[in-house]
Amino acid sequence: MCGIIAYVGPRPCAQLLIDGLRKLEYRGYDSAGVAVHDGSSIVVRRAAGKLSTLQDLVDREPVAGTVGIGHTRWATHGPPSERNAHPHVAGRVAVVHNGIIENHVELKQRLEAQGRVFTSDTDTEIVAHLVDMAMARGLVLVEAVRDALRELRGAYAIAVLAKDDPETIVVAKYASPLVVAIADGAVLAASDVPAILAHTREVLFLEDGEMATLTRAGAKLETVAGEAVERAPTTIRWSLVQAERGGFKHFMLKEIHEQPRAIEDTLRGRVQLESGTCNADEIGISEQDANAVQRVVLLACGTSFHAAMYGRYLLEQLARVPAVVELASEFRYREPVIAKGDLVIAVSQSGETADTLAALKEAKRHGARVLAVVNVQGSAIARAADGVLYTHAGPEIGVASTKCFTAQLAAMALVAIHMGRARNALTAERATALLGELVKVPEKMRHALEQDASVQLIARDLVSSQNALFLGRGVSCPVALEGALKLKEISYVHAEGYAGGEMKHGPLALVDRTMPVVCLLPDDPSLEKMLSNVQEVRARDGRVLAVVNDAHTAASLAQWTITVPRTEPEFSPLITTIPLQLLSYHVADQRGTDVDQPRNLAKTVTVE
Ligand code: AGP
Repeated sequence: MCGIIAYVGPRPCAQLLIDGLRKLEYRGYDSAGVAVHDGSSIVVRRAAGKLSTLQDLVDREPVAGTVGIGHTRWATHGPPSERNAHPHVAGRVAVVHNGIIENHVELKQRLEAQGRVFTSDTDTEIVAHLVDMAMARGLVLVEAVRDALRELRGAYAIAVLAKDDPETIVVAKYASPLVVAIADGAVLAASDVPAILAHTREVLFLEDGEMATLTRAGAKLETVAGEAVERAPTTIRWSLVQAERGGFKHFMLKEIHEQPRAIEDTLRGRVQLESGTCNADEIGISEQDANAVQRVVLLACGTSFHAAMYGRYLLEQLARVPAVVELASEFRYREPVIAKGDLVIAVSQSGETADTLAALKEAKRHGARVLAVVNVQGSAIARAADGVLYTHAGPEIGVASTKCFTAQLAAMALVAIHMGRARNALTAERATALLGELVKVPEKMRHALEQDASVQLIARDLVSSQNALFLGRGVSCPVALEGALKLKEISYVHAEGYAGGEMKHGPLALVDRTMPVVCLLPDDPSLEKMLSNVQEVRARDGRVLAVVNDAHTAASLAQWTITVPRTEPEFSPLITTIPLQLLSYHVADQRGTDVDQPRNLAKTVTVE
């Protein structure tokens, strides 16, 4: 979603701000802008569309100055256009904003009644007016921002620049991420770490209800209520190189190929093969707590929801603990029944998804203990949870989640095995065998990735299909759902995933010779039943793409076959997912879509 960067320092900053915004492009956006203080006034450059358009504008009409703010906008209030792009200016004040001001209608009415004229459709412009009006009453910038914040309801991360205060930027946040960093005599703020990695890896995460005044002397943190805040910096593990494309045509392709390493990093230091146990401190659940759990409630959205579904299968199978999986967006607005003894697991790549964060808070409000499975260090969900199991997938830039998904699967496997051992549902021998196989999965993923060229050829046959179905049973069911989600989000091909057993209950009506059906057929107890589903598809002339462990499986039935290495049935999703990701990638690439930044989507969904 929207991205923010702010800079106060010794260097001319217009280009620096655009370079920072470029690192946030992956979040999804439709317009961009910068506002720079040139010593006497605030100069704004904004453009609809890609950053290259803003870059051209700034090249044509340069802006001088060493203090500035920048923004990439993902439209919520008002269409993507130059007039709705940030920064928004009112009088002496320029503002960039992520999030949604929920009471914007009433505030706008009030401000218009007071003679304020609005030039955009955005909720953000209200913030600029409120700060400007407070400064007109004589407040200095930080006090004017504080005054404005008291009026706002909703989610915000803001950065504010004022004509009368050329050396200062004030930032604040509530329910939208914001980090502050000090580097080489400069102070920066950003909505997301990659924007500032070129300057430093030491960052200060702001908490909800906090603000910071940035000057060349440093960053002064305080609460909106005015209490001073002392915060030690966090060192970010990710490097700038990890956030580069590294020779691949797209980030998504690079990230698909990074999966073996992502899984190795996620398992490292967490598995004790000899004893068949997992490191409880690393997993984030003590053995005692694992033993006391009566039920697990998994909360997530999108791809992370599919990983949570997989977690449910494994928790029931390996730990014999009842488990339910819930869409966070539904859970937060129901009146969920949370009992003492429930363990809630919130799964999120970004750690910032608004629905998942709100669902987590709802669960905590009901007294549940919450474990977060997240990829982004210091993210809101990580900070709000009682324990954190980090997936160490590294920065994921492509909007379509790939390596973070399989890292989440690995994390789920660790949680299930850990809880299985703690609850004596798994013997040491079985756990040792499972863990021994789990650590071999990355190598098998490497072999699966060798199918890239064959999948690319299959994609040629499928590139003009308008629809596709994905079928799987058991642990392969979430893989089928994920395969369909990947295809639709980056190639815009309509795709649905189903449990194989559901075919006869409706989707079979869609099958004819134009319908490709991707069938997950790893060697597991549901293989025979899945082969019956394949027969049903073939009987209706459907074209089958079979993902198998043995090339002979379904050989006479499938039009296309992709063979991937065999593993323990519990872990097959980590491997069978790979050809599905590659298929989506190649179909999308051949259709010429914007693979890394698909239309209408954002990487980090910080609004409901
Ligand atoms: C994944 O490809 C999607 N972009 C999306 O479904 C994503 O998984 C979802 O928005 C949840 O995000 P999170 O993992 O950051 O919470």
